[in-house]
Amino acid sequence: MPRTKIVAANWKMNLLMKDGISLTEAICNGLPDPLRCEIILAPPMLFLKEIASLVDGTSVRTAAQNCHYEVSGAYTGEVSAEMVANVGATHCITGHSERRELFNENNPIIRAKVDAILRAGLVPIFCCGESLAIRTSGGQNAFVANQLEEGLFHLAPDVLEHVIIAYEPIWAIGTGVTASPQQAQEMHAFIRETIRLKYGNGVADALRILYGGSVKADNAASLFSQPDVDGGLVGGASLQPDGFLKIIEAACG
Ligand code: PGA
Repeated sequence: MPRTKIVAANWKMNLLMKDGISLTEAICNGLPDPLRCEIILAPPMLFLKEIASLVDGTSVRTAAQNCHYEVSGAYTGEVSAEMVANVGATHCITGHSERRELFNENNPIIRAKVDAILRAGLVPIFCCGESLAIRTSGGQNAFVANQLEEGLFHLAPDVLEHVIIAYEPIWAIGTGVTASPQQAQEMHAFIRETIRLKYGNGVADALRILYGGSVKADNAASLFSQPDVDGGLVGGASLQPDGFLKIIEAACG
């Protein structure tokens, strides 16, 4: 069974609600028909309900960019996975390098968030990826394997199979420097092999691994044509409908 590709938009802390609505409308109106891939939009938390309602009844899904790992309680400013699910979102990003670096989220925290996301009935989009220093020293495979081990490998096979992994080398995020299709393929193949060793062929062959880091209209097709690249997690280029629709075209075409 070929894996259905996914194009996920990570808006990060960008746009106001009205811009998010127009962007979503433009994307929904411009989608290829038939749509042969999955589209997920991750708006800022504050617009999640609005965007989830807007795409209700379409094939577009929505994700939160983050959540807390507890169900409820005295965590001022935080939002639980249950709250994310309650407003109609279906997915939740976790482990993004910006959360790891700027908000001190380590592997145990991300593991707890993965569990919270699953407990709420959402699909985790689990991000992993190495810094430039780690890549330069050649330690990227061991680093990413450790992120997978500590963040995901406690899950049962039938659960892990539905998790979406996003490989996002930190040196490629928002920098305009994209991993070459070969670099992306090498790491994606490594991730899939690591999963194969631990979970076997069924899980490894079913699981979707997205690439993230300066995906754009003009490099999407070459990245997505790699055998182990099952789509993209797109930041900057997801904020303009024309460019983002071209990326979708590259994944669905
Ligand atoms: P970018 O961000 O496409 O702007 O590099 C990707 C991401 O951080 O998910």
